[in-house]
Amino acid sequence: MIIRHRKASDVRSHEITPEGVYLNRRQFVQSTGLIAGSLALGDIARAAVLPEAGGKFGAMPTTHSKLDPTDTPTPFGDIINYNNYYEFGLDKTDPAKYAPAFKPLPWTVKVDGLCNKPGTLDLADFLKPHNLEQRIYRMRCVEGWSMVIPWIGIPLADIIKNVEPQGSAKFVRFETIVRKEEMRGQRSSSLPWPYIEGLRMDEAMHPLTLMAVGLYGQPLLGQNGAPFRLVVPWKYGFKGVKSIVRISFVESQPQNTWKVMNSDEYGFYANVNPKVDHPRWSQASERRIGELRRRPTLMFNGYEEEVAAMYEGMNLVRLY
Ligand code: MTE
Repeated sequence: MIIRHRKASDVRSHEITPEGVYLNRRQFVQSTGLIAGSLALGDIARAAVLPEAGGKFGAMPTTHSKLDPTDTPTPFGDIINYNNYYEFGLDKTDPAKYAPAFKPLPWTVKVDGLCNKPGTLDLADFLKPHNLEQRIYRMRCVEGWSMVIPWIGIPLADIIKNVEPQGSAKFVRFETIVRKEEMRGQRSSSLPWPYIEGLRMDEAMHPLTLMAVGLYGQPLLGQNGAPFRLVVPWKYGFKGVKSIVRISFVESQPQNTWKVMNSDEYGFYANVNPKVDHPRWSQASERRIGELRRRPTLMFNGYEEEVAAMYEGMNLVRLY
């Protein structure tokens, strides 16, 4: 893994990716399109990009966005052993224990709704070495803990542009897999399945919004949302829907799972905001996993400069 240590103040992909790589990626995306009508997965194609279990991705451009010197990446062992993934159980250690029963590949994602080119994405078709990036993001869970994670993925905007959303598409809805045989938590009704999340179109197109396929240089493990999950670093962790099988362009705000479960406590926007407390606890500070001290929580999780303009004029206390 080549890590270029630069102090990026912003992560627009054309600024953080070497120009040649960036242009190649755009040309690739434009020339091939991302939609393939449910192609069968070729083992050779898959192996070229998604390494086998225990393998590593090849070198790729990296950015550290808005990190300060105390934002050191959380140890791999913590990232894979302290998880929220109710499909595998309610305890933080359940996902690591039970996710090995989940077999993520092959994987396809249905893209539908208000777009001109609906279809089925095959992970093996659109993951190419030159369209992957490493993004080191600060992550904040609504429960008060945080981590710094070196994700590997592709900007969601690249996928969206290729399917040509229509003007009437105002939101993007994400749906997770239902596979009760492999996901023991789905045999209970702890949550309504499938887990659903949504973003407003401008949030989905924002250059920080990533579809992750790996972390720490290797493919995502089941507990972190293998093989394909959303990462939105300025929002609380519950927006980061895991193991996505369907992306739909819709006119109205999707009913996201946690808002449906308890709308007094969880909203649609879920922007990290130290001034808007959860009804049962303060959001003013957080504990980084691996540290004892609490640190102040930053507005929009420290990504204010990049994202605040999207929420200008909105009442962020009412629209939490
Ligand atoms: N996605 C699905 N499908 N099911 C879940 O239970 N939990 C969410 C989110 N995505 C969840 C999910 C919550 S509450 C958090 S905090 C993050 O995943 C945790 O991601 P991590 O375990 O990779 O840190």
